[in-house]
Amino acid sequence: MTTEHLPVLADEVVEMLAPASGGRHVDATLGGGGHAERILSASDPDGRLLGLDADGAAIARVRARLGPRFGARLQLRQANFRDVGSVAPEEGFAAIDGCLFDLGLSSFQLADADRGFGFRTGGPLDMRFDTNRGVPAAELIATLDAAELTALFRRYGEEPFAGRIARAIVETRRAAPIHTADELAGLVARVTPSHAPGRRRIHPATRVFQALRIAVNDELDALQAGLASALDLLRPGGRLVVLSYHSLEDRIVKRFLQAERRGCTCPPEVPVCVCGRQPRLRLLSPKGLVPSEAEVTANPRARSARLRAAERMAA
Ligand SMILES: C[S@@+](CC[C@H](N)C(=O)[O-])C[C@H]1O[C@@H](n2cnc3c(N)ncnc32)[C@H](O)[C@@H]1O
Repeated sequence: MTTEHLPVLADEVVEMLAPASGGRHVDATLGGGGHAERILSASDPDGRLLGLDADGAAIARVRARLGPRFGARLQLRQANFRDVGSVAPEEGFAAIDGCLFDLGLSSFQLADADRGFGFRTGGPLDMRFDTNRGVPAAELIATLDAAELTALFRRYGEEPFAGRIARAIVETRRAAPIHTADELAGLVARVTPSHAPGRRRIHPATRVFQALRIAVNDELDALQAGLASALDLLRPGGRLVVLSYHSLEDRIVKRFLQAERRGCTCPPEVPVCVCGRQPRLRLLSPKGLVPSEAEVTANPRARSARLRAAERMAA
């Protein structure tokens, strides 16, 4: 079976980024290169794109697939997007026309049994985007105490049964360590009521897996840092486009865009602005865009996507 990663809201991403010939774009989350390919095609014949991914396998796959077609127009680098502020200028992308963040994981990663992202994989519970850095999820599951696991599942998964799941993990690992994704998913399914509201549509371990992935990759801090750095790189008129897949991500994106749209960060009780900060962004999609029913049917991964886009102002 071949795994394919269908780019989410691809037409909308291209419309919002509005790539043109001669443009310079950064794809901060290259994945399978679906969006990158669309951006390069839309900026024919000489637009350039720098693709980043923390996962070396994504870089290698896209190099093989798109390198021959786009040649020097496509530059690739394995990097965390939290470092885009230093990495992009090193690659000749110090002032850019657009930057895309398509958050989370790709279908390739989900399907890779050795990565532990999917519930049914019997491979090790790893969940790192960059397998050379940080601590795998199995280590968190093996070492955090019940209170720490509860806090993690609540904070990053908004999991209503966090305490119950954490206690079951601690109990189970006394007998034998939890090594694989399917062991953990099975445990969560056993200890949580399947009839609880909102749990019927999704696998019972969805929130626990989301929480572990966020913690292992320090995803929310990386997002905050990446957005701030990307904005600094944008030329006036340059576009920032972000696709998020759950409320924790979307909240960070929304607050970031709102703050940069407002500029002033003075507290409301201060009668006259003393911070002097000017608005740096104009919102292009104040409420965000979501996929059509047809897209969700064709690509269930798009189900929870929300696109937010903004344009850099002169300030
Ligand atoms: C949803 S996929 C992107 C799919 C891509 N837009 C496409 O059309 O194929 C997200 C990718 O971002 C990468 N990623 C997630 N967080 C990252 C980070 N902080 N820095 C760099 N890459 C990251 C993941 O490894 C994954 O390959």
